[in-house]
This record gives sequence, structure tokens and C-alpha cells, in this order.
Amino acid sequence: MRSLQRQRKIYLDGFAGRKPSTPVSYAGLEERARQVLPPEAFAYLAGGAGSETTIDANRRALDQVKIHPRMLGGVQEVSMQLPWRAHTLPAPFMLAPIGVLEIAHRDGDLAEARACAALNVPMIISSQASHPMEAIAKQLGSTPRLFQLYYSKSKELSQSFIRRAEAIECSAIVVTLDTTLLGWRLRDLSLGYNPFIMGKGIAQYYSDPVFNALPDPVLTDSTKPPLSFDLIRNLISLNNRIPGGLIHNFSTGKAMKAARKFTAIFSNPGINWEDIKLIREWTSLPIYLKGILRPDDARKAVAVGVDGIIVSNHGGRQIDGSVSSVEALHGILAAVKDKLDVWLDSGIRSGSDVYKCIAMGATGVLIGRPYAMALACNGQQGVIDCLTNIMSELELHMALSGCHTINDINQDLISHPWKTI
Ligand SMILES: Cc1cc2nc3c(=O)[nH]c(=O)nc-3n(C[C@H](O)[C@H](O)[C@H](O)COP(=O)(O)O)c2cc1C
Repeated sequence: MRSLQRQRKIYLDGFAGRKPSTPVSYAGLEERARQVLPPEAFAYLAGGAGSETTIDANRRALDQVKIHPRMLGGVQEVSMQLPWRAHTLPAPFMLAPIGVLEIAHRDGDLAEARACAALNVPMIISSQASHPMEAIAKQLGSTPRLFQLYYSKSKELSQSFIRRAEAIECSAIVVTLDTTLLGWRLRDLSLGYNPFIMGKGIAQYYSDPVFNALPDPVLTDSTKPPLSFDLIRNLISLNNRIPGGLIHNFSTGKAMKAARKFTAIFSNPGINWEDIKLIREWTSLPIYLKGILRPDDARKAVAVGVDGIIVSNHGGRQIDGSVSSVEALHGILAAVKDKLDVWLDSGIRSGSDVYKCIAMGATGVLIGRPYAMALACNGQQGVIDCLTNIMSELELHMALSGCHTINDINQDLISHPWKTI
């Protein structure tokens, strides 16, 4: 088993006086990321909405799922493989779409993609990535990829993103439903920090022909920030980021216009079930809805003919006091299991967490903050280490509880307190 080799290597390195270069626990990853990142970048990655009770709820719910391991299963070899669409995944997880990864590491999504390629773990490319999807796809090689869509106020732009996702051979489109507006995020508000205003995380937009052809927005808010050193520094950063060059962008106002245009059309709070039907008509790719937390919404997802859902509260970044995704999963599975793929994210930190969600009946899970923190700690190698550690723990959990394959991880092996709403 690969997990045994990994354990052995780490212990032997320790014997030779070398500690793992990437922290092994999530707490360790977060602590190291806090040390190496500027305070605003760390706050953006780690923070949630309001008093962050949803982040806590995600963890508390997972803690309430108890594993009852079965003995004498005679498990000498374990297969964590999951058949998914045309692919065989090495383990039942993918990497969640995380925007603005350039604030975690200068190579951002490109480093993430290379780590995915090293392990053949699917990557969900974010609408808010720091690099155009075509550049990310190059790093992925033949590794499975999906594209996450924030449905824009411009339908033509959303269509263009989907066409580009088809061209880079995405296996599915993931439409995120829970971020039609940014949540009330106290850490970012306290620091007055919004990366998008600085031109970060908008690479899909300025690399898009439809976006570039959209008219510049009419300015209605004439409030100008006072001139300061930080303002000049941020203006230089913004003008450097958008293609065209610093001088050209400054003299034409191109970068400012692009950032304003993005803010004006980024997401469409008016999105409704009719729009999902429209997206269904636009593409023959499988469609997944991300952000479902209620059984009735899951039933509607089945009714409009999407292929899967991702039960998620966006890692507690949108609604303070929201139901945890693991708690919501139980009722949702009771409503729609076997009618479509049900994935989950929000709070997954370890192989044990992956095991619990699979046992509850999820098809698989998305790993979010752990890989983003690992990227901040140690770049591409950090992400590889983080994912390998999660796989190792999952493999050991399976072996220690009598499971030969993913299908053996089932309801009989866990208990939890929830009932259907
Ligand atoms: C910094 C950050 C940026 C994110 N950006 C996106 C995004 O661009 N699109 C999206 O659908 N979800 C985004 N998410 C949500 C993740 O896809 C995922 O739902 C969340 O990270 C799961 O919670 P966890 O990381 O606590 O496990 C983001 C999350 C974080 C932490």
C-alpha cells in the first residue's frame, strides 16, 4: 500500500533529522500559510462570512459522524479508485475551484494544475482563476478538468466561457449558485481588501473576446479614494496585471476600465431555474450545480435535467449561520440518491473526512482550503504533498475498517445524528 511507503519515508526522514517540508496536518498548513502570506492574502483564503459560525459548523458536523470499524476484513490491498464519467479517478476527490490563487503563490493555478497532473486528480478551473483556462489546460496535459462558471450579467460572456471550456476538453461545467453576490466577510471588510479591484483573479475575463468587446460601463459612483502611497502602488499593480503594458494601460485607462467592467458584470443575482435550462441548451457537457443545501432544490436539479450537484456552503464564505454541508447531505441523499451524482465540499480536511462523506453516500468530495494553504506553504510540491497525505489517510482508514474498495465504504460503517428536514 502506498500509504505505508509514505509513512515509512516520513519516519525515516525524521530519523535522519528532516521534518516534512509541507506541514502534514491542516492546522499546520494554515499556521504556516499565516506566517508566509501578507495578512490580507491569508485573511482572504481563511476567512468566512460574518462571525464564521458556518466554518465552525462544517467542522462540527464532520466530528459528529462516527466510524465503527469492522475487524478481520483480511485487507492486504486497497483500491481507492472511483470511476467517474469517462475517467478513473485515483481517489474519490477533485480540487475545488478556488479563485485568486496568485495571492497564495505566484504560480497560482498553474502550480495547482501541475500538481493535479502529477497525481491525475481532476481540477475544477475557477471563473476567478489567475490564469486563462487555456494556459491552465496546458499544464494539466491529459488530466481531467472541469470548468466552474459564475453566471455573468452578460449571457454572451457566459456562453463564451462555456465554448472555451469545451475547447479545452472539460469533462463538465460546474455552475456555482451561492455567490451571486459576495458574502459579508468581516476579515476582508476590516482590512478593506478586495483582490478583484486590484485586477487579481480576473484572467478568464480579460482573455475573453466577448468580454473585451463589451462596452465600457457608465460610471455612476463618482467617489474617488484619496491619493496615497497605497493607492499608487495598487494602481501600478492593477496596470501591470492586465495585458498591454504599464505605460499603455495607464495612458489609456485600459486596466481601470477592465476592472470596472468586471465588477459591473461579474455575477448575476437574477439567476434562476430558467437560466439553468438555458445553460442546458447551450452545451452537451454534463452540468453540476454547486451550492445546493436543500432537498427541494436537489429535486429541482433533477427536474431540470442536470447531471450532478455539489452540496456546499462555499466553505462558510457566504451565509453566516448556514446549515453545514455534511448535515444537509443526509436529507439531500434521501431525496435524490441514484437520480444524479451527489458531491460535497466545505470542511473536508483529511482522509478521514473523505471516508465519512463517502460512507454517508456522497459520490465524492472536493478538497478546498487544504490545497490552497499547501500551495502557499510550498507551491506545487505543497499541493502534491497535501493530496498524497489525504490519500494515504483514506487508504489506511479503508484497510483498518475492512474496506477493499470505495464501494465497501457504506452506511453500515458510520453513525450520525441527523434526520431529514
Ligand atoms: C479563497 C477561496 C476562493 C474561492 N473561490 C471560488 C470560486 O472562484 N468559485 C467557486 O465556485 N468556489 C470558490 N470557493 C469555494 C470552494 O470551491 C469550496 O466550495 C470551499 O473552499 C469549500 O470549503 P473548504 O475549503 O472550507 O473545505 C472559494 C473558496 C475559497 C476559500
